Amino acid sequence: MKLIWNHPVLEIFLGTACGGLLVLLIGWSRGGRMFSEDPGWSPRTKDMLNPDLKFPRCVLVPVLLDGKSTQAFPFLLNHPDKCSASGGAPFLLMLVMTRPQDRFLREAIRHTWGNETTIPGVIIRCLFIMGLSSDPSSPRPLEEDEKHKDLLQVGFLDTHHNQALKTFMGLEWVARYCPRTQYVLKVDGNVVLNPSFLVQQTLKSGQHPRPDFITGCTYRNRSPIQRQSHPRYMPPDMLSHTTYPPHCCSPSYVLSGLLALKVLSIARRVPAIHLEDVFVGLCLHHLGVELILGPPDIFPMFGRSYKRCDFRGFALVHPFKHQKLVQVWPDFQKGTCPLE
Ligand SMILES: *[C@@H]1O[C@H](CO)[C@@H](O)[C@H](O)[C@H]1NC(C)=O
Repeated sequence: MKLIWNHPVLEIFLGTACGGLLVLLIGWSRGGRMFSEDPGWSPRTKDMLNPDLKFPRCVLVPVLLDGKSTQAFPFLLNHPDKCSASGGAPFLLMLVMTRPQDRFLREAIRHTWGNETTIPGVIIRCLFIMGLSSDPSSPRPLEEDEKHKDLLQVGFLDTHHNQALKTFMGLEWVARYCPRTQYVLKVDGNVVLNPSFLVQQTLKSGQHPRPDFITGCTYRNRSPIQRQSHPRYMPPDMLSHTTYPPHCCSPSYVLSGLLALKVLSIARRVPAIHLEDVFVGLCLHHLGVELILGPPDIFPMFGRSYKRCDFRGFALVHPFKHQKLVQVWPDFQKGTCPLE
């Protein structure tokens, strides 16, 4: 296993090798369970892509980021000018994690918290990051991108175990095309974000600049899960820590642009793991950066039922269905609340 694990680039190029053999090998060497629930790993995925697309399409996760591997994945949909277009570098770049098929979710986000013009005088840019659908019948979202020009699609399968890679491709995009953004928000699609609270209360308060700033809901003293059937199973040979370093909850965290670049560069030297939130925590640990705790409870992560003035005191609520988001948004923006 060590041999495969230490190989600098763990992606497999076009061709039949993408399918069974290596998946079996990895599956076997990890106890045969780890990837079994992940539809991205079923044998049929080997045939699913348009053979005209010449890129490394199949990643055997967990992916190693050492060396140049984030640079090995092409942006198949890209908007290199998104950050430089008008008005200069953004204050906040939102990198929203969705899958290619989540078209309605993205539509809801564009009309609500992903709207770039909701805070006067603050430059916000919003991009949706995705890999490739593991469903062969699912078309690539080309028309949607043509219309909105806000999709970043990267050439690997968008599976549960590739979420760390997806985040790091977002950071790679920041490094290449948006290195002067003040803040980067990594956020999942199934949330309610309160952009004005995030910007005014969390980011603009306190001293500036804050080069090593990162905040969100945080976990401390979490231990690796040893049960193989669990989605967050951590094979003991992958990480020897008995507790994870403190880390932000994966649905959302916000960090300074400078720290995003540092995390990306250290990620190339830290052995990668598939749990995105823990991996970012490990990178911070290696950088010696402490998480900044926001005011308690502004990033509730266990769902809340909607109440306007409660939600106005949060930066973000997770999870939240997009159908409901669209319904409550007009109300959310109405009037004032006692503590504002
Ligand atoms: C975004 O917000 C602006 C200003 O509030 C509004 O005019 C525009 O229609 C919104 N865009 C979308 C897609 O909802």
